[in-house]
Amino acid sequence: MSDLKWWQKTNVYQIYPKSFLDTTGSGTGDLNGITAKLDYLKTLGTGAVWLTPVYPSPMVDNGYDIADFTDIDPAYGSMADMERLVAEARRRDIRIVMDLVYNHTSDKHPWFVDSASSRDSEHSDWYIWRDARPDGTPPTNWRSIFGGSAWTWCEKRQQYYLHTFAKAQPDLNWENPAVRRVLYEAANFWLDKGVGGFRIDAIVYIKKPAQFVDGEPDSDDGMVNIHSMIANTPGILDLLHEFKAAVFAGHDIFTVAEANGVAPADLPSWVGPEGVFDMLFEFSHMNLEFPTGELWSQATGYTPDIIPRLQEVLFASQQATAEQGWYPVFFENHDQMRCVRHFFPDEADRALTAKVMAVLLLTLRGTPFIYEGQELGLDNVAWDSIAAYNDISSHGQYELARAEGRSQAEALAIVNRYSRDNARTPMQWTTGKNAGFSTGLPWLPVHDDFAAACVESETAAADSVLNFYRRLVALRYDSSVAEILQQGSFAPLLTGDDSIIAFKRSLGNRHVYTLLNFSGRQQTYSLPELQGAELLLGNMAGGSLGRLRPWEAVIYTQKWVK
Ligand code: GLC
Repeated sequence: MSDLKWWQKTNVYQIYPKSFLDTTGSGTGDLNGITAKLDYLKTLGTGAVWLTPVYPSPMVDNGYDIADFTDIDPAYGSMADMERLVAEARRRDIRIVMDLVYNHTSDKHPWFVDSASSRDSEHSDWYIWRDARPDGTPPTNWRSIFGGSAWTWCEKRQQYYLHTFAKAQPDLNWENPAVRRVLYEAANFWLDKGVGGFRIDAIVYIKKPAQFVDGEPDSDDGMVNIHSMIANTPGILDLLHEFKAAVFAGHDIFTVAEANGVAPADLPSWVGPEGVFDMLFEFSHMNLEFPTGELWSQATGYTPDIIPRLQEVLFASQQATAEQGWYPVFFENHDQMRCVRHFFPDEADRALTAKVMAVLLLTLRGTPFIYEGQELGLDNVAWDSIAAYNDISSHGQYELARAEGRSQAEALAIVNRYSRDNARTPMQWTTGKNAGFSTGLPWLPVHDDFAAACVESETAAADSVLNFYRRLVALRYDSSVAEILQQGSFAPLLTGDDSIIAFKRSLGNRHVYTLLNFSGRQQTYSLPELQGAELLLGNMAGGSLGRLRPWEAVIYTQKWVK
């Protein structure tokens, strides 16, 4: 039998609680809404649910600006609701995974309020404070990830504070042992509540360089993205090992850290027994449209050459995690556009392409992460005014595009494609009012396509994206090839092909083959070892070896006796 851990033999479902299910009519989802849908999650084979932050928050960045690390925001319910969710999930063999946002707090957190009150306060040294330059301007030319300077002036202290993200998200000073201690205590508080793991937010930014210096500007605003100045600063791993020893070590949980920019060669020091975390979310496959960094205005949009590049980086990650650590397979989250838009041209068939991504997600080696609504094949939104968008980064990136000379329409088109709100519209449950999400006014509009793409109608339609996910889940966890899909090794196939992504999973002499056509044209291929193979599942009826129809996805199996 396998020696895989529980979290390597299941999938994780990511919930954006604000948009999942509202049980009070407030227009905002809540914890009881999640508890009510645990049986639904079971139909997707889910063994862990990652909740984006549910802690008290002014919601400037929808919960990623935290005012108390060990409580629940009243909009989401109470601690008793949280305990019930953990217990009800556990009864169904589902673990709850919390989001630890430890690079920063809210500017309304009592620590920051105190820190900002004077240079002699108790928490004076809990954040990153610097004097102005002699002319009063910020200490460096760093741009925050959401746009605008990464420094904000504080009148009371007559100093600037640093924020990698919004000005309402001041960065904590991890050099201060007292800060580290309370953060570890907060994580242990959640372990005592019985959570099954942690997703650790923006971790690559916690260690700041010893010297703060200007960087080469990357845009007309004279600033440089802070990411390139502070991410993965040497010494970060010492802090993280201390974090691991104080919190994660010895628990039957998993950790997955958001670690943009950790190169495959550095993986051994980050993941696995000698590393810190179990898995890393790195974004090489998600940032293909961003050759120059994170500026939306400089993104390329979809181009067909994305596909060979996707194949290359995905396969590199599969190979890098073959021995070291474990790969968290994901194509969507609450910060990304919907994958049916991301990896396909606008004219592509949404249902077929959603199924192509589903096959990729559930046949690669690693733990699949399904993001709420992905299993319905949900598409991006395209609202007609910037005012309609809630996402703070959409506004920052819009301003930046305007400052670079883009017209309103051009700036809006950029936001339409990359806005994080694309993934944050309410979950679509029924064909009824507000897609069954809320009896009140939803905090963000429901997508117009909800009648066709909702759990109710997709459960009823035999060939829906949702039912296809369920068939795939059965194949992965409960079929004659389940072991191969969970434990089997990975090997690339047809790597010279620009439109097909293909690979093989093997356990002993048994193999599962995945072949995906990412183009709107028929493709032919030659793969002699497939001769006589059995078709397990495809996103179209019929099909033949050696040929893939537009947007076709197929899974074959083959027993090879040499
Ligand atoms: C991460 C989160 C994102 C958040 C940011 C700041 O990137 O995924 O949603 O805005 O960190 O906490």
